[in-house]
Amino acid sequence: QNCILIGAPMDCGKRRRGCLMGPDAYRTAGLAEALASLGHSVTDRGNLAPAAHAADDAAAHPYRLHECIGWTRALMAEAEDAMDHGVPIFLGGDHALSLGSVAGVTAHAARTGRPQFVLWLDAHADFHTVDTTESGNLHGTPLAYVTGRPGFSGFPELTATVPQENVCIVGLRSVDGAEKDALQSSDVARHDMREIDETGIARPLQAFLDRVAASGGALHVSLDVDFLDPAVAPAVGTTVPGGATVREGHLVCEMLHDSGLVTSMDLVELNPFLDERGRTAQLMVDLCASAMGRRVFDRPTRAFG
Ligand code: ARG
Ligand code: MN
Ligand code: MN
Ligand code: MN
Repeated sequence: QNCILIGAPMDCGKRRRGCLMGPDAYRTAGLAEALASLGHSVTDRGNLAPAAHAADDAAAHPYRLHECIGWTRALMAEAEDAMDHGVPIFLGGDHALSLGSVAGVTAHAARTGRPQFVLWLDAHADFHTVDTTESGNLHGTPLAYVTGRPGFSGFPELTATVPQENVCIVGLRSVDGAEKDALQSSDVARHDMREIDETGIARPLQAFLDRVAASGGALHVSLDVDFLDPAVAPAVGTTVPGGATVREGHLVCEMLHDSGLVTSMDLVELNPFLDERGRTAQLMVDLCASAMGRRVFDRPTRAFG
């Protein structure tokens, strides 16, 4: 495969700064080399800049709305184009990145006649609209935008949205009231840590992958660092205890590769300013390598699929 690295050094999705260093941390941790060693060709398109946008008032609610709109425009165009050339891997940057990456790949899927699916690996639902967010941090909104919930005036009009039933969130353990109400009355598939503890992470994931395969869909995977437990992935501003283990993270990524379904991916919320000797950046690179085919043995033993 041709892996296309697209850096998005953006920090506008929340107040704590540092995610803008993410793309270079992934490069420093050897992402391109890891993917090349798996036999892929790798094209690093460098870092994007936001499209021209109105100025933001630092005290406004939501926070840095216009800059997020500028990034969304730039990422949408880049994502839709990159889908014609390989598997884009978006290097964040905070999770507001996905306002644009997911909107762009979804436009591409609509143009090529494929249903778009989204796997959201995150402690949070990121299902707020601009009207319901209490924090005003737009990294908490991308799933609402791409599924077509109202309240995103000023953002690019979406030609295609992701159907709720094509979205699956895994890793949930911090959901705000308004998100909870909206999710509970939606068709979004959602798996919290309690379910993962009871059933294991493979079962709900495989059920979703089977649905993607049955429909011939495109699959975008959005990996938020806070999906992982803060003990193993400290470099994120929104840590929530009780997250996925290193082993669960690798299992998810290995199953994703086995499925052959992944068409695009985000690595988001890494804040290198909060890291410890690069360990979180390295773990994210290793997980991405698993998702792109790194294995212990050639023919792993599998219980599902
Ligand atoms: N729900 C909270 C908020 O809206 C947290 C969002 C965290 N999102 C993230 N991408 N880390 O502020
Ligand atoms: Mn092109
Ligand atoms: Mn998130
Ligand atoms: Mn999160």
